[in-house]
Amino acid sequence: MAQDLSGRTVVLIGGGSGIGFQVALAAAEAGASLVLGSRNLDKLSNAATQIEQQYPAVKVQYGAVDVEDEASIGRFISDIESIDHLLVTAANYVTGSLEELSLEQAASPFVSKFWGQYNAVRHARPKLSADASIVLMSGAAGARPPGAAPAYVACNSAIEGLGRGLAVELAPVRVNVVSPGTVEGNLWANRDQAVRDAAFESYRGATVLHSLPQERDVAEVVMMLFSNRAMTGATIFPDSGYTFH
Ligand SMILES: NC(=O)c1ccc[n+]([C@@H]2O[C@H](COP(=O)([O-])OP(=O)(O)OC[C@H]3O[C@@H](n4cnc5c(N)ncnc54)[C@H](OP(=O)(O)O)[C@@H]3O)[C@@H](O)[C@H]2O)c1
Repeated sequence: MAQDLSGRTVVLIGGGSGIGFQVALAAAEAGASLVLGSRNLDKLSNAATQIEQQYPAVKVQYGAVDVEDEASIGRFISDIESIDHLLVTAANYVTGSLEELSLEQAASPFVSKFWGQYNAVRHARPKLSADASIVLMSGAAGARPPGAAPAYVACNSAIEGLGRGLAVELAPVRVNVVSPGTVEGNLWANRDQAVRDAAFESYRGATVLHSLPQERDVAEVVMMLFSNRAMTGATIFPDSGYTFH
C-alpha cells in the first residue's frame, strides 16, 4: 500500500544523514513537507538540495538545533507551524563498561539520546496535530546487550519505557519506538574500519538472518509507524533477528 503524507509536516531532528535522511527521502516520496534539524547547517543544506533535486515539488526547511541544549530545541521548534510526524535520530554519546567510563561519560547517552528526545517531544507537544505520531529512537542493545555498556543499554530500555508512557499521556497522538540493530550505514561508516569490520562480523553471527539491517530497512519501519493508525506504545526491532522478539 503506497503511503500518502501529502499535506503533512514531518520533522526530522538528525535528518541530514543516516537513518533520518532515509526517512526524509521516503517521506518526500510520500509527498510530505520536511523540516530537518541538526548542528551542522552545511550538512542540512546538502541534504535539502539532494531531496529537492529528487522531489522538486516537496518543501524542505532546515534549521540548527543541538539536542543537548534545551533552549536550542525550543528555538528550532518555535519556527515550525505545526507537526504531524516527529523522529529524533540526533544523539552523540560514549559507550563502555562500568569500569572504564567516568560518570560523565556513562551519563552521555542519557544527556543526549534520552533527554534530547524527551525535550524534543516536550517542545513539540503544543504544535502536534490531533492525529500526529511520534517515533522515538532506541537501539537493540537495550534488549540484548552486545557487550559491557550498561548505561547505554539502560538508556535504550528507558527510551522504550518513555515511548509507552508518552503513548498514554499524549493519546490520541500515537507514540512508538524503533529499536534497530547494528545498521550498515553512515554512523558506522565514520568509525574506524577495524572496529567496524569486527562489529559487523560479530553482529551478523548473532542474528537469525546472518545479515546487517540497512538504513532504508529502519526508515521503512519508521514510515509504517508514522502512518499506521493502530500502532501506539510499541517497540519494533528492525534487527535481522538479533533480539528475536
Ligand atoms: N546506526 C546504527 O547502527 C544504530 C543502531 C541502533 C541505534 N541507532 C541510533 O540511531 C541514532 C543515530 O542515527 P544514525 O545511525 O542515522 O546516525 P547518523 O547518520 O550519525 O545520524 C545522526 C544525526 O544526528 C545529528 N546529531 C548528532 N548529535 C546531535 C546533537 N547533539 N544535536 C543535534 N543533532 C545531532 C547529526 O548531524 P550533525 O552532525 O549535523 O549534528 C547526524 O545527522 C542514535 O540514536 C543511535 O543510538 C543507530
